[in-house]
Amino acid sequence: MDEARQARPVTPPFVNRRLGVLISGRGSNLQAIGAAIGSGQLDATIGVVISNNADAPGLAHARQGGLHTLTISHRGWSRREDYDRVLVSALREHEVGLVCLAGFMRLLSAPVLEAYPQAVLNVHPSLLPAFPGTKAQERAWAHGAKVSGATVHLLDTELDGGPIILQGAVPVLQDDTPETLADRILAEEHRLYPEAIRLVLAGGWRIEGRRFLCVGT
Ligand code: GRF
Repeated sequence: MDEARQARPVTPPFVNRRLGVLISGRGSNLQAIGAAIGSGQLDATIGVVISNNADAPGLAHARQGGLHTLTISHRGWSRREDYDRVLVSALREHEVGLVCLAGFMRLLSAPVLEAYPQAVLNVHPSLLPAFPGTKAQERAWAHGAKVSGATVHLLDTELDGGPIILQGAVPVLQDDTPETLADRILAEEHRLYPEAIRLVLAGGWRIEGRRFLCVGT
């Protein structure tokens, strides 16, 4: 490895391992993260779960599990940035160090990215950059892709953009329906997300261009 590349700074480990998990619906990735913490696979705590939707089933599960939850509706804000500033205040109030989007159906803007630089993660049900946006599993299936999968990436201003931390491939089988494919992709998301959080919290990584590189790679 050349000297210039070796000298590039890497991130220190996260001192604050409190997660803020943002959801809009079912919350199965939130549960997977909680399970990984519970089993000791992931050294972190969930400081707060925030939903933009009061009826999100994931909120009820989170409450049953003793997690602190908040609903911050996105309705009634004329500007996206104003809503995002309220989110940042809530995350800071709960001393969150790393933000994990887990089925949060809102685009986030500059206030969140500036408050949490390289500290917002997202999970997406395709092998990005293929099939960004909604219904990614169904679109991969309808397109006739033979392989799809799941991606965990750092957030930037682009929809489902940002440096990729981990990906897992899932074959598309001949007798799959969009639903059976989505189920297998979801299982892969549940495996990948806690592992990606662990990697990010551990530090020792850097971003080169779009590339997320761990020490020694
Ligand atoms: C997942 O498929 C995730 O990739 C996408 O939204 C879905 C959320 O599922 N962003 P859940 O709420 O975590 O069960």
